[in-house]
Amino acid sequence: MHLVSFRINGDERSLAVEPRRTLLDALRADLALTGTKKVCDMGDCGACTVLLDGRAVYACLTLAVDCEGREITTIEGLAHGNELDPVQRAFVEADAYQCGFCTPGQIMSITALLAEQSAPTEDEIRRAVSGNLCRCGAYQNIVKAGQRAAELVAATRTNGSNANGSRASAAAGAGDAPGGRR
Ligand code: FES
Ligand code: FES
Repeated sequence: MHLVSFRINGDERSLAVEPRRTLLDALRADLALTGTKKVCDMGDCGACTVLLDGRAVYACLTLAVDCEGREITTIEGLAHGNELDPVQRAFVEADAYQCGFCTPGQIMSITALLAEQSAPTEDEIRRAVSGNLCRCGAYQNIVKAGQRAAELVAATRTNGSNANGSRASAAAGAGDAPGGRR
């Protein structure tokens, strides 16, 4: 077993994990953060998307031991108490889901995009979620949610606070992350 320490959703955590344990299994089974979904478990669907140092990665392709000293953000880390994050609000407003199973991953991908590009084009939004499959075919409204999220994040920034907190600054300086998206 290896002891791995990281910062997750703002909290410092340490876990003893086998070297082969994926970040996805560590999140869901060891940390009870089940908002990150496990579907294909092989890098095909994007349901497990989380932020690692601000960049979207597939948690199923990321080893927990590779997260030593890193900053992880999961869907549970976006809301502030009962107040939804702007990207989460945008998905509700745009009715961008049906079963909702892909939604956490979609939201994390849009969050990573907006941390790097505050006014994305429709093509950039489509590219950002191109690694996130939606079996319900909610793609049109997912793109609308991305556009609405950009508006809400811009409004939040204009009001003097950064809706994405440390994720934005972390993204700016991050190198290539394991579990990187295709
Ligand atoms: S669970 Fe499908 S990409 Fe990770
Ligand atoms: S809303 Fe059902 S898989 Fe996307």
